[in-house]
Amino acid sequence: MRFSLVPALLLTLGLAATSLAAPQPDAVETKALPLVVVKAARLVEPVTGRVLTDQAVIIEGERVKAVVPAADTGKVIPVGSAARTIDLGAATLLPGLIDCHTHVTSQPENFYEDLFRRSPIDEAVTAHLYARRTLEAGFTTIRNVGADNYVDFALRNAINAGKLPGPRILASGPALSATGGHGDINGMSPYLRFEGSIGGVADGVDAVRKKVRENIKYGADVIKMLATAGVLSEEESVGAPQYSAEEMKAIVDEAAMWGRKVAAHAHGAEGIKRAIRAGVASIEHASFIDDEGIALAKQHGTWLVMDIYNDDYILAEYGRLGYPEKILEKERLVGRTQRENFQKAFQAGCKMAYGTDSGVYPHGWNGKQFFHMVKWGMTPMQAIQAATVNAADLLGWSDKVGRLAPGYYADLIAVRGDPLADVTALEHVEFVMKGGKVAKNTLTAEPADRID
Ligand code: ARG
Repeated sequence: MRFSLVPALLLTLGLAATSLAAPQPDAVETKALPLVVVKAARLVEPVTGRVLTDQAVIIEGERVKAVVPAADTGKVIPVGSAARTIDLGAATLLPGLIDCHTHVTSQPENFYEDLFRRSPIDEAVTAHLYARRTLEAGFTTIRNVGADNYVDFALRNAINAGKLPGPRILASGPALSATGGHGDINGMSPYLRFEGSIGGVADGVDAVRKKVRENIKYGADVIKMLATAGVLSEEESVGAPQYSAEEMKAIVDEAAMWGRKVAAHAHGAEGIKRAIRAGVASIEHASFIDDEGIALAKQHGTWLVMDIYNDDYILAEYGRLGYPEKILEKERLVGRTQRENFQKAFQAGCKMAYGTDSGVYPHGWNGKQFFHMVKWGMTPMQAIQAATVNAADLLGWSDKVGRLAPGYYADLIAVRGDPLADVTALEHVEFVMKGGKVAKNTLTAEPADRID
């Protein structure tokens, strides 16, 4: 009797895990969903690159029902139904922003303390703070690429269940890393062990396949692989390849078998090319991408997710946070070249999605990278597209987020002023709605909705 419940339970869990990905069936007519009308002077439409004036977004439940000129609102709302209207006046509305590279479960406070005095439980109990800050910064969807101990799965599940405010999260769990690689803890005594910690170290074709399966078993929506050495870790170089072509192919094949895409951390030119040839969906960082790498990325349609803000933060703050000089030295090698290569790759026609590596710098500052993307060659509209339609495409959620159109999640934000004239307006998001619920509003007297 006891055991007969197990398949049913597994089925339920399976359904719960996929509910975010599956399109919701149409609402049952008999139970009317609440209607909300959000009006503003301007609406940025990233999919067409246009800015519309005096629009109304009509929201039914958690989805957009229509976007119409404000004067036509009455044509869409059925007669006799009560709609709540939020008039944001002179503000600019945009679809909720998407950050394709976050580490939302933690942020650095002190190198030594973070490593030796905190447990995964400390991380788990504070992660919700960062999720809320991310959401309130206007990022209604994130792709979290790397969190040990499955803290990101627990956070995502609690947000999806409506227990905590936070963005929609596409989560990877532990990032796959070679022994001694970017995801390992290096430079310590060989007698030191972090017993019980669930990380992503795996070597060889069989072990990496098993690690992909294990991550998916416990909840991974996407697979993160560390294709090369990194900055904020104590291995020797930054950029040397850390997985063989065979291992990378095995990771991508295995992930594809389970319907998952792969995001590859890669700074160095060789590792970037190896990962692109293996078939990853995105290259993260891409700092030292060369001409051949740019051509390959274009040919394979591989997205580049280049975190070109955080160099400022690392160089200004990481000495104070007790990071070893060796790490700061690596950052000095990467920062400027990465920005120059961002410009080069973008001008060459590579596909760019917005990703910041938040968690390297404080959560909630996700919008600071827009300024740098514009400084290094994008128009404000292109930078906004990178953080909406493009990002949604990379995530595989083009039918759910990244634009305001009928059937899409009612994820929208508003800022004072015009982000197309000054993109730093996106650093001060004043109104955030996720799935039809107001998560933040400092523009009007209309209060935010309670999420929990
Ligand atoms: N997580 C990355 C790494 O450790 C951060 C790199 C930050 N620096 C940069 N210029 N993007 O490799």
